[in-house]
Amino acid sequence: MIVCKTIAEIRQAVAAARKAGKTIGLVPTMGALHAGHVSLVAACRRQCGFTVVSIFVNPTQFGPNEDYARYPRTESADLEACRKAGVDAVFMPAVTEMYPSQPMVTVTVGRIGEVLCGRSRPGHFAGVATVVAKLFNIVAPDKAFFGAKDFQQTVVIRRMAEELNFPVEIVVCSIVREADGLAMSSRNRYLSAEHRRQAAALSAALAAAQEAIRKDHPPAEVVSAAVRGHLARHAPDGQIDYVQIVDPADLSDVANTNRPVLVALAVRLGTTRLIDNVLTDP
Ligand code: PAJ
Repeated sequence: MIVCKTIAEIRQAVAAARKAGKTIGLVPTMGALHAGHVSLVAACRRQCGFTVVSIFVNPTQFGPNEDYARYPRTESADLEACRKAGVDAVFMPAVTEMYPSQPMVTVTVGRIGEVLCGRSRPGHFAGVATVVAKLFNIVAPDKAFFGAKDFQQTVVIRRMAEELNFPVEIVVCSIVREADGLAMSSRNRYLSAEHRRQAAALSAALAAAQEAIRKDHPPAEVVSAAVRGHLARHAPDGQIDYVQIVDPADLSDVANTNRPVLVALAVRLGTTRLIDNVLTDP
């Protein structure tokens, strides 16, 4: 496995693989790798001859009061996980390699970056879109792999690739969960034992919503009230940021559930903000 710290090194490694006729796949991450990330690597390896994982805790997607400084950094364990998963090259640049000066040109994201998580994280999706655009230009992958856990992120990236004409195929992989249903996340390790227990209510509430929608398509407001009720009963310490039923294509609110819908939520347990979603398509 090649480990590259500079843009020049990863460009060289990718150029050699491309010259050998290989398809290039990119899995962008912020490290603290878990089975969710590894599932993206596995999908990439199935579809591409050369798998690149980027590990970069991107400062521009964290708000001033968010967890950039304390975001888990587990470099040697991450490299080990990549080796075990059969990654061909890891790109792990320093902040100064990615942002040698204060950025003056960035990607802006319209309404799809302002709803849902964008409401409590202003600027987050612009930071994500900008760093992913840079990674696409650095690695020039044929395909890039993202998890449905960050559903809004996949909508933003797809739209960016389309509207800015990046010649890359965006592949979205399903959510990997713990045994009790909690969506795997690098941030789960922050939860206290009690909050970890209550966190299982998020996926349980979403599963119940999915079941109800499949059975008799209740109005969106009925579904969202049921999810809030479930959370109030089973995660009493949870502070709901949002529970919303939206159109999975453009994230606009929907009133009816007799059509494809995304049920998405964000809940704070202590200082940890958790997100999850389910897609329901009749
Ligand atoms: P990070 O949170 O490290 O996630 C990297 C990728 O792993 C994302 O596409 C995310 O959706 C996916 N992922 C995380 N948990 C998952 C799970 N339980 N199941 C399936 N996939 C999962 O998302 C980011 O980093 C950053 O915003 C990034 C795209 C790297 C830009 O900085």
